[in-house]
Parts: sequence; C-alpha cells; structure tokens
Amino acid sequence: MRAVIVHEHGPVRDQRVETLPDPVPGPGEVLIDARAIGVNYPDMLVIEGKYQVLPPRPFSPGKEVSGVVSAVGKGVTRIKVGDRVMAQREYGTYREKVVSPEATCYVMPPAMSFEEGAALGLAYQTSHFALVDRAAYRKGETVLVTGASGGVGLAGVEIAKALGATVLAGVTSPEKGEFCKTHGADHVIDLTAPDLRNSLREQVYAAIGKRGVDIVLDNVGGDAFDGALRALAWCGRLVVVGFAAGRIPEVKANYLLVKNISVVGLQWADYRERDPEWVQRVQTELYALYEAGKLKPHVSARYPLEKFADALARFVERGVQGKMILTPR
Ligand SMILES: NC(=O)c1ccc[n+]([C@@H]2O[C@H](COP(=O)([O-])OP(=O)(O)OC[C@H]3O[C@@H](n4cnc5c(N)ncnc54)[C@H](OP(=O)(O)O)[C@@H]3O)[C@@H](O)[C@H]2O)c1
Repeated sequence: MRAVIVHEHGPVRDQRVETLPDPVPGPGEVLIDARAIGVNYPDMLVIEGKYQVLPPRPFSPGKEVSGVVSAVGKGVTRIKVGDRVMAQREYGTYREKVVSPEATCYVMPPAMSFEEGAALGLAYQTSHFALVDRAAYRKGETVLVTGASGGVGLAGVEIAKALGATVLAGVTSPEKGEFCKTHGADHVIDLTAPDLRNSLREQVYAAIGKRGVDIVLDNVGGDAFDGALRALAWCGRLVVVGFAAGRIPEVKANYLLVKNISVVGLQWADYRERDPEWVQRVQTELYALYEAGKLKPHVSARYPLEKFADALARFVERGVQGKMILTPR
C-alpha cells in the first residue's frame, strides 16, 4: 500500500509517498481500506513539527479517514468486516490502508458518501465540543463563529444553527458570508473591517442588539479574538479553538472580571484519548443531525493522495471553504 511518510519534520513539499507492506490490525483494532481522507489544518503543523503533539518518526500524518473495514483484530466486537466506517486518529490516516482502534471508529449512516463521512469528523467534533461542552450552550443563545467559512468554522455554523442558535459568521469576504448563510448563518461579520478591536463589536451590536453575543467560537485568534472578546454579552463565553491568523492573543484578567465573562480553551483530541465513549455519543448525535438534513458537510476540493502537498498549501494560500479530501485511489 502507498502512504505519505514523514521521516524528518520540515516543509510539506519535502515529504513523499512511499510503498509499504499492508498493515495488520492488532487486538482491539480494525483495518480500513481508505476511500476518503480528511485534510485538516493541523496536519500541516504536525508535518512541520509545529504542533503541540508530535508523533514518533517516521509517521504518516492525517487525523481522519473513511472507508470499508477489510479485517478486524482479536477482541473487536462492535465493528465488522464490510462495515462502512469513519475513523479518527492522532496521526496516520494519509494511507491507502489505515489501522484504527475500534474505540475511535464509527459506522457511517447508510446514505452518507465516503467524502461526507471523512468531512463529518474532526471539524464537526471540534465545533460540537467547543459549543456544547466548553461553552455550555443553551438553546436559543447567540453564537459568533470566526473563520466561519473554513472547515471547523463551517461545522460550527451548521451545528449551532441545528441546535437552535442565532448564528453570526465571521468571514473575510461577502462571498464567504453568502456561502455561510447557505449553511445556516443568520448574520455576517466582516473580519477585514478596519480597527477590528472596536468595529467587530459595532457589527455584532448592529446585527443582534447591544446586549452582545453569548458565545464566540474563535478559530482565528489575533485581531478577531481581540474584537470578539469585546463583543461578548454579560456572562458570555469565548472558546479558544485555533489561531489561523497566526497571532496567539493575550487576555487581561481584569477584563474577565469586569464583564463577568469566561475564556476557555478546547483541545479536542484530549476527549478522543481520555473518553472515547463520550466522543462516540457525540458522533452518534452528529449522524442523527445529518440524517435529519441539518448538517451538510461541504467538500470543496479533492486531491489524489500523492497531491497532499497541494491540498495543504491551500491552508497557507487561504480561502478554503469547508473541507478538502484526499482520494487514495
Ligand atoms: N482546538 C482543537 O482541538 C482544534 C481542532 C481542529 C482544528 N483546530 C484549529 O482550528 C483552526 C481552523 O482550522 P480549519 O481546519 O478550519 O482551517 P481552515 O479551513 O483553513 O479555516 C481557517 C479559517 O480562518 C480564517 N482566517 C485565516 N486567517 C485569518 C485572518 N487573518 N483573519 C480572519 N480570518 C482568517 C480563514 O478565512 P479565509 O479563508 O478567508 O482566509 C478560514 O475561514 C486552525 O487554527 C486549527 O489548527 C483546532
């Protein structure tokens, strides 16, 4: 089988596809013939050695895959050969054949395509845990998602809308705003406005009133974070999800006190490692929302496995809408 293999951390373009023996699932593991591999922003950070968790080398990058189970190891009870599944790993899915623990493997709904299956993984799990667990969302609250047209952001828009929120999409162009509206956003916030630190709040007030926004899911950091913090309502919550803009922001503790607001962090992979059954329950809920027509994972680009570097370059070039997929064959 072919796999992207990283021997040394470094530029994505330095990495190569190699041919390896087919893997064999161990106890509690399943072997998946990959059909669609999700491409995520952190994959690039892992390859370059800039991510918080780095695998032992050599390794294959990649955090999610969908496909068909071709073998199961000893002790596997829930998943069968022939099942159409999506699996989530810390790394190791940029491969034609992927071994996954059964615990982080989910049987996809029958009507779901493999592309949708790979797309409805890390991005949706991240936004669901950010909104429901970290922000303790209550039905009917207002939710601002920054980086709303990207993979994690668009998932946040859809989930918040599906759970009854009024959704504000923070984007960088009117076209991306319209795109987010087709996925459930009620209002669009321009993240390219001058003096975002103040102007973001003015935009939020104009859209939903001077109370401010109950919850911010911040995928961007930098100036968007600074502005979003000021746009929070009394007892508002901001979840730190990512720093796509590059700058890690700082918070003055007195600001939290004065406004009765919370800033909380999310590291989704910890939930997968520490409590896979909880992640499993959330995935079941996400699949139910999909089957009810409330989630529509958007795949905007497909690349053959060997073109993985072209896909990852799109994150740097910016403008990714929804999800990108690698097709192993
Ligand atoms: N905490 C976790 O557990 C977790 C899990 C997964 C991902 N993440 C993080 O979440 C972030 C988003 O990941 P993703 O896969 O959704 O990436 P993505 O698809 O590239 O989306 C990034 C979004 O951020 C926007 N953006 C980038 N720079 C910006 C700037 N300077 N100002 C305003 N908007 C900007 C992009 O808008 P344009 O397209 O207009 O540039 C895009 O909408 C990343 O930082 C990733 O590392 C965190």
